[in-house]
Amino acid sequence: MAAMKKRVGILISGRGSNMVSLIAAAQAHDYPAEIACVLSNRPEAEGLKKAQAAGVSTRAVDHKSFSGREAFETELDAALKSFNVDLVACAGFMRLMTADFVERWSDRMLNIHPSLLPAFKGLDTHARALAAGVKLTGCTAHIVRPQMDDGPIIAQAAVPVLEADTADTLAARVVGVEHELYPHALAMFASGRVRIDGERVLGAPVPAKPSAPLIWPPLA
Ligand code: GRF
Repeated sequence: MAAMKKRVGILISGRGSNMVSLIAAAQAHDYPAEIACVLSNRPEAEGLKKAQAAGVSTRAVDHKSFSGREAFETELDAALKSFNVDLVACAGFMRLMTADFVERWSDRMLNIHPSLLPAFKGLDTHARALAAGVKLTGCTAHIVRPQMDDGPIIAQAAVPVLEADTADTLAARVVGVEHELYPHALAMFASGRVRIDGERVLGAPVPAKPSAPLIWPPLA
């Protein structure tokens, strides 16, 4: 099993709580991926210290020290290759990528986004979900395409919105679910259990009895 594990490079920009959940999941002997490295475009990112504490190789590729996006991405690409990475997992990586970079990692790069895509692409998802009055929001793990927060969806989780929620309380509840969803999605993808078919990801096992629908507010 160990020899077949996919080598994953995680890209972060900040606190790296999703990164921590991927590193933790990958410690299981039967997890189909191992974390080869954590790279950050921000040298001061808190997540780098957490990765080091977990014994994972890290590198900062500071976007500010490059003349432009292409030069930055050339270095990022070289860093990923130097760690023999098979798959890239973006986890709070806050740089827009060129189509050329996405193409280089075509169908080998994943992202986690804090909404039920295709709703609420971009930033401030929780404030916008509250303003829109949706009763359910959630998070999405998907394959990265050149358009922002676009691409075949691997897995999603729905989270109820409470009347007392602020953007911060909702974000805290959703990110807790992201920590379960992302390792699950990466495992499905890295194991080869699911495949990309056009704009869809297919092949996930269907349980004999699907989960009950989440109705919110709940039935009396
Ligand atoms: C998460 O909410 C993720 O969905 C979004 O950025 C946030 C990163 O948080 N892309 P963390 O750095 O993983 O804690």
